[in-house]
Amino acid sequence: MTGKHGKEGGMSRRLIVGNWKMNGSLAANDALVRDLLAGIGQPACDVAVCPPNIYLAQMSGLLAGSPVELGVQNVSMHESGAYTGDVSADMLKDYGVRYAIVGHSERRQYQAESDVHVAIKAKRALAAGITPIVCVGETLREREAGMTEFIVKRQLSAVIHLNGHCISEIVVAYEPVWAIGTGQTATPEQAQSVHAVLRSQIKAATEHADRVRILYGGSMNAANAAELLAQPDIDGGLIGGAALKAADFLKIIGAANASA
Ligand code: 13P
Repeated sequence: MTGKHGKEGGMSRRLIVGNWKMNGSLAANDALVRDLLAGIGQPACDVAVCPPNIYLAQMSGLLAGSPVELGVQNVSMHESGAYTGDVSADMLKDYGVRYAIVGHSERRQYQAESDVHVAIKAKRALAAGITPIVCVGETLREREAGMTEFIVKRQLSAVIHLNGHCISEIVVAYEPVWAIGTGQTATPEQAQSVHAVLRSQIKAATEHADRVRILYGGSMNAANAAELLAQPDIDGGLIGGAALKAADFLKIIGAANASA
């Protein structure tokens, strides 16, 4: 079978991830997951949801035996010890966590996470057998200054530098900051051109670059998912707001199934 990137068998399945951010409650999670599982069937893509950590026990119960995997929104850069408030990769692994978002722009902005912090977090996740979803993306000011390529390459290069040969095990998410939660999605052409830059950067680091899934995130929704996923280097989505409504998230999964 020819993969999406034109290499024999090189392409992995599409990946659709819901980032719930700081939303949810025991009751709301229960209802959302039940509606999701009622409609999901056997998807042709991989699917994960990332609730707040406090709900991991509840969520691992709700998702057990389903095709939906568990992810988290952050991981500590430390292994264990006196780091009040942190949760380690090994602890997350105890709850069956499969993916960890690292370097989301909201954490870079509000928690002062640097490129180096993000690279260390990716390393901790990999060491625990958790796939890091490394987020990169430029602000509107950076885009307008013509710095998009420079910014995303700088952010990813820190992760490549620290993680060397493991780099084919990561997932990358391109999330332009100006598109997050604004309803202003990047056009398929804008997104594809940055994805192509990231793909060639990964190609320079590993011969398995076609295996690395590059997700798009930023106001992705039921209406625009199909045309974004049709782009040659867009391998899935990292969904915020639209992941909180089962019907919308299911439509995005449907678009990924159709483009598989
Ligand atoms: P929205 O889909 O709400 O724009 O959020 C995107 C995002 O930040 C996912 O991580």
